Amino acid sequence: MLQDPPRLFFMPQNCLNKVYFNNYRWPRPHYAAGLMFLLAAAFAVPASAQEPAQFFRQNCASCHTVGGGRLSGPDLKDVEQRKDRAWLTRFLLDPPTVLQSGDAYAAQILQESRGVVMPKIAGMTEERANALLDLLAAESKLEKSQFVGLVLSDKPFTPKDIHHGRELFLGKQRLTQGGASCVSCHSVRDVGALGGGRLGPDLSRVYERLQGRKSLSAWLSAPATPTMQAAFVGHPLEADEIHALAAFFEESAQRGGEEDRSGSLAFFLLGLGGAGALLVAMDSVWRGRFRSVRRVLVHGRLERGE
Ligand code: HEC
Ligand code: HEC
Repeated sequence: MLQDPPRLFFMPQNCLNKVYFNNYRWPRPHYAAGLMFLLAAAFAVPASAQEPAQFFRQNCASCHTVGGGRLSGPDLKDVEQRKDRAWLTRFLLDPPTVLQSGDAYAAQILQESRGVVMPKIAGMTEERANALLDLLAAESKLEKSQFVGLVLSDKPFTPKDIHHGRELFLGKQRLTQGGASCVSCHSVRDVGALGGGRLGPDLSRVYERLQGRKSLSAWLSAPATPTMQAAFVGHPLEADEIHALAAFFEESAQRGGEEDRSGSLAFFLLGLGGAGALLVAMDSVWRGRFRSVRRVLVHGRLERGE
């Protein structure tokens, strides 16, 4: 009896296969899908292959306009009349470091932006920074830059807008450019017992977090964070969709309260229950196999006269 475990090594190879591999075949497609999504996200926007204007639209326009007023970052029209190119290049290469360096101008623009720290932008090089500053200089001379920002209506939101935004969020109405519905990755506190997806943050109060209508709308027109950018870069939201979503998020934020975490608790409990049920199910399915393995072992032993 005490010698039992080592005997496993005498198991015929096909038995081992059955026990160790057949049992675990099912998760592989999920890993593959997840891996493919991550790879797609990582390579969707090969930074080096972009023209400065495209690079600006995808990485900067969510926070900056040229001649359209400040968003979360300053209006960049004539920025080189405020600060010289050497400083700006150094800043673009690593904004957080320059902002923390004690530099007086940095402290001033940081304060004017209410403490929002410009992130380090992936793919930034000295060459690209120069190309972007050239672009900004050229755009500043135009009467109307292509980066003046979204022309969004400032009409007050109506109940119809809120409803439209909700339908878009939930994916009940498709996004014109084919973007994925928000609910597959996000929740808002009242989107149903289980809430929405868990990949992205809860958006119940995002209207406040992104500082209101103008900044939120600009953000949605050119999301600059990795997952959002990968999901929407080929499928931008249209102006009327942004208007409706902003209406929906404003209404959600106005109802106040904390961002709902019970969704994740429900999810967790469901997961726990699901895992339990799965174990029970697997047990009844696989028990037969373990029995037959044991039978092989036991019988083998009997046959060999042990
Ligand atoms: C998440 C928002 C955000 C993104 C994205 C962003 N910036 Fe900024 N940027 C800011 C903020 C905020 C400031 C003001 C300094 C501070 O508080 O960080 C700033 C400052 C600047 C300044 C100095 C402005 C001045 O008035 O002196 C330049 C130039 C600049 N950004 C260019 C860019 C470029 C080019 C990109 C894209 C490659 C970019 N920014 C992306 C938020 C952003
Ligand atoms: C593929 C999953 C996915 C989809 C689809 C998606 N998001 Fe996101 N979203 C994320 C993730 C993840 C983040 C966190 C930042 C990041 O990694 O991009 C995020 C961040 C955000 C943020 C910033 C939140 C904050 O607190 O700063 C907003 C706003 C947002 N998403 C809105 C939307 C809207 C509106 C839609 C639908 C039109 C949507 N998202 C669809 C995954 C997604």
